[in-house]
Amino acid sequence: MSRPASNLQIDSARLWGTIHETAKFGATPKGGVRRLTLSQEDKEVRDWFRKACEEAGLEVHVDALGSIFGLRRGRDMGRPAVGFGSHLDTQPTGGKFDGILGTLGALEVMRTLNNAGIETEAPLCIVNWTNEEGSRFAPAMMASAAYVGDFTTDDILSRRDAEGVTVKQALDGIGYRGDKPVGFQKLGCFVELHIEQGPILEAEDKTIGVVDSGQGVLWYDGKITGFESHAGSTPMGLRRDALATLSEIVLAMESIASKRAPNAVGTVGEAVIAKPSRNVIPGEVAFTIDTRSADGAIMDALDRDLRAAVAEIAARRKVEVKLDLVWRKPPTHFDPRLIAAVENAAESLGYSHRRITSGAGHDACNLNTVIPAAMVFVPCKDGISHNELEDATQADCAAGTNVLLHTVLALAGVAS
Ligand code: GLV
Ligand code: MN
Ligand code: MN
Repeated sequence: MSRPASNLQIDSARLWGTIHETAKFGATPKGGVRRLTLSQEDKEVRDWFRKACEEAGLEVHVDALGSIFGLRRGRDMGRPAVGFGSHLDTQPTGGKFDGILGTLGALEVMRTLNNAGIETEAPLCIVNWTNEEGSRFAPAMMASAAYVGDFTTDDILSRRDAEGVTVKQALDGIGYRGDKPVGFQKLGCFVELHIEQGPILEAEDKTIGVVDSGQGVLWYDGKITGFESHAGSTPMGLRRDALATLSEIVLAMESIASKRAPNAVGTVGEAVIAKPSRNVIPGEVAFTIDTRSADGAIMDALDRDLRAAVAEIAARRKVEVKLDLVWRKPPTHFDPRLIAAVENAAESLGYSHRRITSGAGHDACNLNTVIPAAMVFVPCKDGISHNELEDATQADCAAGTNVLLHTVLALAGVAS
């Protein structure tokens, strides 16, 4: 690693301005953002981002899954690019920071280097990954997963949303099915800046989280088939109620995860009654489960206990429950050299910091399976995320972006 441009700082007001300027794409009345992946709002923010990258002198390319890559040339183009970025899509009722800080922070790093006239040894590449959130198309983080070879491009292109629209159709609909094959841009390492999405940094009054690990994830799709019948005339003992069955599954998931807290979490986040009516006993209910742990053995236990609980509940209630594991992401252990680079940057900039485990999934977790990766966290207000109330301070966002800047400089080297 070569000499860092040690006094360099990003422009906090400019970063804050871009976060608020882009929040208009999908702005919600409560101050949040609704920007489902590959929606019209996603196209609008992508167009803004692409133009901003081009104006920053980056060479912009879009891959076959719509991920946007902005390359800044280095002195030594034989070296692999140092990658950094995040995502611009949001949850249906998301906030202004989840993913957005890491993507616009990456742009701010490029703008800062341009203004300072700094050339790096290795090239730099910012990335906006398609569909990090996973709420329109499953799984989450599908583009970075394809990048590392967990899925083929065709497999991802064929995934459908709840309306039956494929990823391919959605990409074509907004003009973002790019001409570059997935994986065309080689990255030597990847660094992602993000809000913590939890309460720890704020509670401990720390500015920077040096992320050393990430929880593994299990996602299930479930379907309960009971029997529709009259809500007034069917005696309680003769019912095969799909929704009452789901209620038991919800509580079973809660208890299975709680038993292992704080090392596990579990959530039923979606439940849809097929033909809802006030005076019909629900005969069919679809649902989803998200359960996580940073410990692989605990993940196995969560899977085993959940399946056993579901089988017992289904048999006792004489209903059929189909439970499909649709995504399994093992826990992440970030690269020690990159963790140290983030820690050194935080330390040399004088920010308070601590090591931390990510509760959320991130594209950096996928990247880490094939190249060294690491993450920088900053606090968010009351630990709230995936909510329109999500908030973070300008000072913390700037601090995290400064850490990103100096981590990237240390990894890429400054040309003399
Ligand atoms: C992504 O936001 C996830 O952790 O589900
Ligand atoms: Mn995110
Ligand atoms: Mn998210």
